[in-house]
Amino acid sequence: DHLRHVGSLSTLSSGAGKIPHLNAIVLGEGLASEENDLVFPSQEFSSQALVSSPAQYLEMYRKSILDPSGFWSEIASQFYWEKKWPQQQQVYTENLDVRNGDIKIEWFKGGMTNICYNALDRNIEAGNGDKIAMYWEGNELNQDGSLTYTQLLHQVCQLANYLKDIGVSKGDAVVIYLPMLMELPIAMLACARIGAIHSVVFAGFSADSLSQRIVDCKPKAVITCNAVRRGSKVIHLKEIVDAALVDSAKNGFSVGVVLNYANESAMKRESTKWTDGRDIWWQDTVPKYPTTCAVEWVDAEDPLFLLYTSGSTGKPKGVLHTTGGYMIYTATTFKYAFDYKSSDIYWCTADCGWITGHSYVTYGPLLNGATVVVFEGAPNYPNASRCWDIVDKYKVSLFYTAPTLVRSLMRDGDEFVTRYSRKSLRVLGSVGEPINPSAWRWFFNVVGDSRCPISDTWWQTETGGFMITPLPGAWPQKPGSATFPFFGVLPVIVDEKGTEIDGECSGYLCVKNSWPGAFRTLYGDHDRYETTYFKPFPGYYFTGDGCRRDKDGYHWLTGRVDDVINVSGHRIGTAEVESALVSHPQCAEAAVVGVEHEVKGQGIYAFVTLVDGVPYSEELRKSLTLAVRKQIGAFAAPDKIHWAPGLPKTRSGKIMRRILRKIASRQLDELGDTSTLADPSVVDQLIALSDQ
Ligand code: PRX
Repeated sequence: DHLRHVGSLSTLSSGAGKIPHLNAIVLGEGLASEENDLVFPSQEFSSQALVSSPAQYLEMYRKSILDPSGFWSEIASQFYWEKKWPQQQQVYTENLDVRNGDIKIEWFKGGMTNICYNALDRNIEAGNGDKIAMYWEGNELNQDGSLTYTQLLHQVCQLANYLKDIGVSKGDAVVIYLPMLMELPIAMLACARIGAIHSVVFAGFSADSLSQRIVDCKPKAVITCNAVRRGSKVIHLKEIVDAALVDSAKNGFSVGVVLNYANESAMKRESTKWTDGRDIWWQDTVPKYPTTCAVEWVDAEDPLFLLYTSGSTGKPKGVLHTTGGYMIYTATTFKYAFDYKSSDIYWCTADCGWITGHSYVTYGPLLNGATVVVFEGAPNYPNASRCWDIVDKYKVSLFYTAPTLVRSLMRDGDEFVTRYSRKSLRVLGSVGEPINPSAWRWFFNVVGDSRCPISDTWWQTETGGFMITPLPGAWPQKPGSATFPFFGVLPVIVDEKGTEIDGECSGYLCVKNSWPGAFRTLYGDHDRYETTYFKPFPGYYFTGDGCRRDKDGYHWLTGRVDDVINVSGHRIGTAEVESALVSHPQCAEAAVVGVEHEVKGQGIYAFVTLVDGVPYSEELRKSLTLAVRKQIGAFAAPDKIHWAPGLPKTRSGKIMRRILRKIASRQLDELGDTSTLADPSVVDQLIALSDQ
């Protein structure tokens, strides 16, 4: 029964792997219906792939669903366990149904392991100590570096010893606010080694956001650097941390230690503002510690990290991942979705401040003993060729990025791409938002020379790893579809009432079972965890996404169905932006909606009502935008501020966002019924102000 949605895949199987070249299908937008465009992996690719046919996928998928314990424990046994999980018939406990009591997910409970040990020591013991673990490419063309697995382990151990020395122990939180220096994954691994819980905050968040996260998780230390260069800009990160700590102290929590990496290429040490007794230079201290550090063995269900993400209220959610299941899941998804070979050089353009950087810059690849490129800079600096320059320089074979970058490079023109060889590329990946078919085709034809399959990986901060993703050698792809579920995942589409719908359909995407990489709770707020994810459709994990399944069983993600928007692959809650706008003394009320944006996927469109008597002005627009930059970060700045004398509300005072979305996207003939509004005339007023 569970397999019915993927069953139709076998009807397609006859072609996969047999058609000589991917270009068997003419790729032209509008030629055929999107759904019918099949792009087959070449025989050469499929024949060497880990999963080389739909039949093989189906067999593995079937096992993973019918016998999850057997499937996952076989994989888990390939990792090091200081103490194996108790040999039970079932290696997991799950209750995903709120009607049956508290939501609970546990995998490999009772087993003792360590993810840092598995990522580093285990690979070194297997003879890979001299293999490059990380290449580092700086913002400027001539800045680079690298670390072998052994060197990386030494650096991780030194930092781990330092953290222990300042009193960080198992279960303590450490906040990391760093750009893409190798010190960022080093810091994550050092925390993991001693059982501390890292909470990485993307270094594009403002002081206010950082402070909010610090107050929530109360870290023993904050790790940062004095400044970073990103493109042509210098950002003074330590000043942001300083401001955040003043703010967090006012809110009742003081941080005792700030460890600063001196990033001299961006800023001299001497010019860095300093608080004696609290601030420490990394380079003066950490290298003095021993290069070995005993591992803290932790339970599979002990927390590994917290990562804050946006939801539909103003308060960010601390997504909590634990150790054992997350380890097995990120390693396995990485291996299969990129068809990983030990000779691959892998580059993911995501920042470790987001989940993609956690699972697929740091943990997934290193657990596989892969060589990872870590890039500090901006992908279009000094020009639009930078990515391909990096690909050729390091012979990158697996390249993983976001549709927003694909679209922006596509706009810059093919010549920036084609003047580089890119011969090393083997598999391309996409993440963060739906990839539109035209961007998919450009990525495929121009970047990959019609040679490299694209893994369009659908997943979330909450899921820990890929959930719906192509396995590149296994089956034909459809441009824009994330294809089929990963092993062990049972996605279902439900209607408004929460009833599963079958066959060709669209509705709300839910998941029916637990998988090892699932998040276990929201830090300090299990009620919100249950309410947000498990109550909307009892019996299921609700993803917040809409999805369509086509006649062949392929999944097409259609975007968020809640008040979350996805801007350049960054997840932003409309409520967060609204609360930042309303904090401005001249703003009386604000309503934010997402609107289609050519490059960013979605743009932020804000309707703002001013305090009585305040006149509209460009200056005020700027200062409202500044309020958002200050409270959240530059990436959340509204693309458009639309003056609103009033907002369309129902008689009970609820803002009708549906109408605002239509006004924002100028679909004025689709406003629908406005008669239920308390004051229908606000709609005309808003339309009249559209171009101001
Ligand atoms: O809407 C989906 C979109 O990104 C959301 C998750 O955002 P976040 O937790 O920040 O994680 C981003 C990186 C995994 C999802 O609810 N999303 C992510 N990947 C895809 C996607 N939408 C369509 N296709 C994808 N491949």
